[in-house]
Amino acid sequence: MTASLLLAVLSGAILIQLAVAICISALSRRGVATEAPIADIDAAKPSTGAWPGWREFRVARRVFEDARRTQCSFYLEPVDGAPLPAFQPGQFLTFKLPVAAAHRPDGQGSITRCYSLSDRPDEARYRVTIKRVPAPREQPQAPPGASSNHFHDRIGVGDVVLVKAPAGRFILDPHADVPAVLIAGGIGITPMMSMLRWSLEEQPQRPLLLYYGVRNGGEQAFKEQLSALAAAHPNLHIEIAYSRPGEGDVAGRDYRHLGHVDIDLLRRTLPHGRHQFYACGPPPMMQSLTAALRDWGVPAADIHYEAFGPASVNREPVAPPAGRADQALACEVRFRRSGRTLTWDGADANLLDFAERHGVTVESGCRSGGCGSCETRLISGTVGYEHTPDHDVAPGHCLLCVGAPQSPLVLEA
Ligand SMILES: Cc1cc2nc3c(=O)[nH]c(=O)nc-3n(C[C@H](O)[C@H](O)[C@H](O)COP(=O)(O)OP(=O)(O)OC[C@H]3O[C@@H](n4cnc5c(N)ncnc54)[C@H](O)[C@@H]3O)c2cc1C
Ligand code: FES
Repeated sequence: MTASLLLAVLSGAILIQLAVAICISALSRRGVATEAPIADIDAAKPSTGAWPGWREFRVARRVFEDARRTQCSFYLEPVDGAPLPAFQPGQFLTFKLPVAAAHRPDGQGSITRCYSLSDRPDEARYRVTIKRVPAPREQPQAPPGASSNHFHDRIGVGDVVLVKAPAGRFILDPHADVPAVLIAGGIGITPMMSMLRWSLEEQPQRPLLLYYGVRNGGEQAFKEQLSALAAAHPNLHIEIAYSRPGEGDVAGRDYRHLGHVDIDLLRRTLPHGRHQFYACGPPPMMQSLTAALRDWGVPAADIHYEAFGPASVNREPVAPPAGRADQALACEVRFRRSGRTLTWDGADANLLDFAERHGVTVESGCRSGGCGSCETRLISGTVGYEHTPDHDVAPGHCLLCVGAPQSPLVLEA
């Protein structure tokens, strides 16, 4: 080998080593840069749905599902015409509506509400079913439910609404083959319709038991659809309970049980063996039933439930997950806009419960980390999540409904 050739080989080797060193250094710098605070890591997580932010949907059809015409299905098709992502049965959509939020004295702003998908996945359209919410009986002069009445009175075929991608963790276990017991109270039937229609299609051998409690036949939704499904699928068994039957309601024909869906009814009618329970209904039903199921010996892992919104949530302080109280004891939380500085003592399950318990006004929707309504600017400190939220948290923000302080905090709320 000549001296000049040797020199060329040596220079080449040195150049390759240099290039490798530069690459390694660049990669390791990237590694350091990704060591972001918890809120930033969560911001990088892709959403469960296929689109970020709000997407326009046109109402293609409206159908009343009950004789009293208080529960209306809205069939929604994407304005852009692109196929829709599949969702998991039990998930919900989040809507932004140009309706003044009740707590805004200036009458400005918009409201955010969540509605469960009430049919099985379809890449052309989604369906939600919305119950008109009147003023509370004891306060008839109060304004009726803002979003539900807006949908019923102002949203017709052809109108466009803003929708966030499907989200939520209240979902039917797609891998289980043990019987699923779906328990619906009133409008809590909506996620059950999605679960049972999906399961009948995808898990045709799986036994399904639907317990559906309503006041009377006038309020029973999806009556014909459910009868047709039960007639076509021997693995689907339906138990209907009326708490206050109407004049035309006939026991044995329209309903099987007088009263509410409660633990006694389940114990009397459920076959022996393991079941997975999925419950969605009004607060008294949810609170008593989930506790009674645990007392009956059903493992917590087999009890799944969803509460529809703030009014349905038990506001009693919930014991924080093991370990969290100790970590978080005596931590200061400052709500900048509200001018409040409070002490987080671990008595609340999350920052949303904590804020509300102390009278700090915060927006909320799903209360499960899925809709983003409670997203709040995190001015300083670290917020931790027990599970990574479904909603993509914007950098420098946090979700109050599933977050807990991991250091003293200053929040924008
Ligand atoms: C995950 C999830 C899924 C859901 N799925 C469904 C579904 O499939 N179908 C469905 O119908 N709902 C569903 N909901 C509930 C839904 O999101 C709304 O909470 C519901 O429609 C009520 O909203 P609203 O805006 O109509 O009522 P709001 O305006 O929030 O009012 C609620 C109640 O407060 C009363 N009120 C308002 N202002 C006052 C005042 N100043 N003083 C006293 N009382 C007052 C109203 O009269 C009403 O009775 C779901 C909720 C969640 C979280
Ligand atoms: S209320 Fe929906 S993410 Fe917090």
